[in-house]
Amino acid sequence: MKIQKIKNGIVIDHIPCGMALKVLKILNIEGDIGSTVSLVMHVKSRMGWKDVVKIEDRYLEEKEIDKIALIAPTATVNVIKDYRVVKKHKVHIPEEIRGIVRCMNPRCITNQREPVTPEFRVVSKDPVIIKCKYCEREMSGEEIIENIL
Ligand code: CTP
Ligand code: ZN
Repeated sequence: MKIQKIKNGIVIDHIPCGMALKVLKILNIEGDIGSTVSLVMHVKSRMGWKDVVKIEDRYLEEKEIDKIALIAPTATVNVIKDYRVVKKHKVHIPEEIRGIVRCMNPRCITNQREPVTPEFRVVSKDPVIIKCKYCEREMSGEEIIENIL
């Protein structure tokens, strides 16, 4: 046991090694966020190595869980209430990706002055490849991670 159990909040478990800081970044956890965050990187699990993030007294919106799925498709989100796991769900990559990733094509209509929400279709889930519905640009790996909104 590398970090102590939490009383209330969420545990994002089974994050691929090296991705914990990116998970914190997409949840906008920086500076003083008013809750206790603990993080372990590179700990042994049943299926190899993982990172784990625990955030006390905070819960996630669906959009945030979708973003986590894009950078950590193996992650599990556990909701903790009074020290017990009351909900556990494996994240999954949504079929439609709307408003959570920016298209990397600077000429795409979603990057012009018009307020057009970026939307992608999922071409492949493993590895994750998405395709812009407007300009058809495909994005994968780091390209997706670097463009999460
Ligand atoms: N956890 C925690 N605080 C609690 C309860 C659980 O930090 N009060 C953490 C555990 O350390 C674990 C995760 O939440 O990292 C999920 O807990 P649990 O379901 O009990 O563990 P496992 O059965 O090992 O989970 P899984 O099958 O998803 O690997
Ligand atoms: Zn585009």
